[in-house]
Amino acid sequence: MNPRLYAAALLLSVSAHAATPGAFPDVPTPYLPSTEIAVDEMLRLAGTGPDDLVVDLGSGDGRVVIAAARDYGARGLGIEIDPKLVAESEANARQAGVAERVAFRQGDVLTADYRAATVVTLYLLPGLVERLKPRLLAELKPGTRIVAHDYGFSDWKPDHSIVISKTYHLYRVPAAVAGKWRLQAVLPDGEREFDFELEQRYQEIRGGARVAGGYLPAFEARLAGDRIAFVLVEGGASHRFEGRVQGTLSMEGTVRSGPGRNPVAGSWRATRVVRSGDEG
Ligand SMILES: C[S@@+](CC[C@H](N)C(=O)[O-])C[C@H]1O[C@@H](n2cnc3c(N)ncnc32)[C@H](O)[C@@H]1O
Repeated sequence: MNPRLYAAALLLSVSAHAATPGAFPDVPTPYLPSTEIAVDEMLRLAGTGPDDLVVDLGSGDGRVVIAAARDYGARGLGIEIDPKLVAESEANARQAGVAERVAFRQGDVLTADYRAATVVTLYLLPGLVERLKPRLLAELKPGTRIVAHDYGFSDWKPDHSIVISKTYHLYRVPAAVAGKWRLQAVLPDGEREFDFELEQRYQEIRGGARVAGGYLPAFEARLAGDRIAFVLVEGGASHRFEGRVQGTLSMEGTVRSGPGRNPVAGSWRATRVVRSGDEG
């Protein structure tokens, strides 16, 4: 059987399994290059630009990485297990005139170092996508965009999906915010301090603040990369918090209180409550 046809049949045959979380056949991902349109849709969906380092995990003949440099002005890195495809990618990059802005490494995506990425592209079978997920979440910087062609993560809801002949899913790596925080805020009635708690499932968060004799739910709580927003309502006023998560121990930002176009502006800061024994 023609190897391209075999690869296409294999990629199609796992579609049924991909719909069932946890049921992923452990078959090696074959080489099946993305079409020119697919390459462009992936890079476009990621919002690729000149400040990006695009890493294609399982980079085939290098086409995603080369297009990222040639068409979007980005830098690129391809990681590919097959040494012949790595050599082909290097030749293709020279031919496209982007050899200085891209690199290709022969290696296994499960062990390679791609922490510097700001965009990660994947066109891999679901079993491999699932095995990559823990490291992608733990090692990529919050806000890094991941675009998956056809097969996304089984239980991580994409931030955005599009269908243009094929399906593409965009994920933003969320900051880790689950846990207990001490929230200090400058509100119109003075400085306040709350015990604040968040639960997290990927980018979905919920929680609230404890106050004497009560609990203020965090309404409209949102996390996009390292940006966090939520609304606390107290004493008939809404306080709109927006801010940035810094590392794993603090977050801070601005809070707007009150109605209309001229709310009172304040600031807030939260530090993680670390119990002894949590540090290590
Ligand atoms: C479906 S092709 C996609 C190629 C390219 N990303 C594209 O979109 O055109 C998947 C590629 O991943 C490579 N691959 C499979 N398993 C890998 C692994 N564990 N580590 C690195 N590359 C792998 C295959 O050799 C193949 O070139």
